[in-house]
Amino acid sequence: MLIAQLSDMHVRPRGQLYRGVADSNRGLSEAIDHLHGLDRRPDLVLLSGDLVDEGHSDEYAMALELLSALTIPYLVVPGNHDRRENFRAAFPGHTYLPAHGPLHYCVDDHAVRLVVLDSCLPGQHHGHIDAAGLSWLQSTLAADPHKPTIVVMHHPPFVSGIACLDEYRLKDTAPLERVIRAQSNIEAVLCGHVHRAMARRWAGTVVLTCPSTATEICLTLSPGAAPQSCLGPTACLLHLWSAEHGLVSHTSHIGQYEGPYAFI
Ligand SMILES: [Fe+2]
Repeated sequence: MLIAQLSDMHVRPRGQLYRGVADSNRGLSEAIDHLHGLDRRPDLVLLSGDLVDEGHSDEYAMALELLSALTIPYLVVPGNHDRRENFRAAFPGHTYLPAHGPLHYCVDDHAVRLVVLDSCLPGQHHGHIDAAGLSWLQSTLAADPHKPTIVVMHHPPFVSGIACLDEYRLKDTAPLERVIRAQSNIEAVLCGHVHRAMARRWAGTVVLTCPSTATEICLTLSPGAAPQSCLGPTACLLHLWSAEHGLVSHTSHIGQYEGPYAFI
């Protein structure tokens, strides 16, 4: 099974740029073309939050128009730039989304079970999983303690070292860590939010973050560094699962580069 992960698309109304500089709508279209051009077609695409930039209906309309070009089934995950009710209303055909409350859900139609947590607090940019979310996660994971499972949430549960990101990280992670650590079948926790690829050992599994299709947050590791973004190169993650070899996650850069050349 091959799962493609796109993240932080930050789609804007038609003709408008993200933060006045990035053509995020084109970024999503290029990412879709990239997935269609892969030598192996993904079985599923995971959109791991911040589908749009301000959560407005006209942005969701634009996102849906762009996503209508995607020929691969996709799952949507909310991010801090999404607005929960506009998000829910934008995807009426996505019946895995609950009709009320936080957008937690489980999709168990594939070789790997996908358990998605809504880590967003309406009106806030940092993340949090409340007691009800933890309880839902615990019972959902306990329902099948053996099937390979991927947990997905927008906010990564660790301190990155990039100060401007860490201000808006997932808070109060200890109870979540205990719930995840209690299971031995969590192949990975997949996140977005940080507009960069990062990896960290956590709760007995691995956390991976996906680059954005819109911008890359600059790698600034000094404590007082100002928040900065760059335009490209953009990328997505490709998670290749097999029962024999487990889950292997690849970064796939979007865009045209020289090559390929014969390697051997
Ligand atoms: Fe984002």
